[in-house]
Amino acid sequence: MKLFVYHTPELTPTDKVPECAIAVDVLRATTTMATVLAAGGEAIQVFSDLDQLIKVSEAWPTEKRLRAGERGGAKVPGFDLGNSPLDCTPELVQGRRLFISTTNGTRALQRVQDAKVVLASAFTNRAAVVQYLLEQQPETVWIVGSGWEGSFSLEDTACAGAIAHSVVQQTHLSLDELAGNDEVISAIALYSQWQDNLLGLFHLASHGKRLLRLDCLEDLKYCAQTDILDVLPMQQEPGVLKKHK
Ligand code: MLT
Repeated sequence: MKLFVYHTPELTPTDKVPECAIAVDVLRATTTMATVLAAGGEAIQVFSDLDQLIKVSEAWPTEKRLRAGERGGAKVPGFDLGNSPLDCTPELVQGRRLFISTTNGTRALQRVQDAKVVLASAFTNRAAVVQYLLEQQPETVWIVGSGWEGSFSLEDTACAGAIAHSVVQQTHLSLDELAGNDEVISAIALYSQWQDNLLGLFHLASHGKRLLRLDCLEDLKYCAQTDILDVLPMQQEPGVLKKHK
């Protein structure tokens, strides 16, 4: 297995695809997706375009769908939900499909949607993702951070580092054998420095600050928890993720 980390969708190669791609948007899209599937949601369907989301979800029975729209961290007016994982209770999401469009997270998923296997990870479900990698041993793994409108995000690269760090710890392979690019080493270094204070890291991160200005401290606290959800969101068809386990 060779791991590659790409900090943003824009830095991700366009001329090839890996055997397994992992999209990461810790604050908050992939945390929300893992939460919805763990709480019994039927599936997640992602869109970059809000009008397209409305059009496609119209064909779905009202009681079986939820529309989530986020721009700039805030809920899009007229949508059922924004992008807070804390709103996704079992009572609300059970048996329903979440149609979602967010500023960056959905773009990261769409960027890697042609890979053989596409997973969504956050800190909350890191262990489930690592377990899949250890069991399946894909030859090439890309971990793609969502960033913010093309820029690096501390929290996504730290989560990429958390995944890589755990793979290194649980295999007999050296870092030199596992790392496919320099970004893997820097992601592990970032995670290693902050693993005991992820909430502190989020307070320094530009999107963490944006969410704090929007009064989302509880979201940050939730997203900073590691390995609390035993759920593996996996793409079933382009743009649609379901619970693999
Ligand atoms: C995104 O896709 O950029 C984020 O998930 C934004 C957010 O915090 O809602």
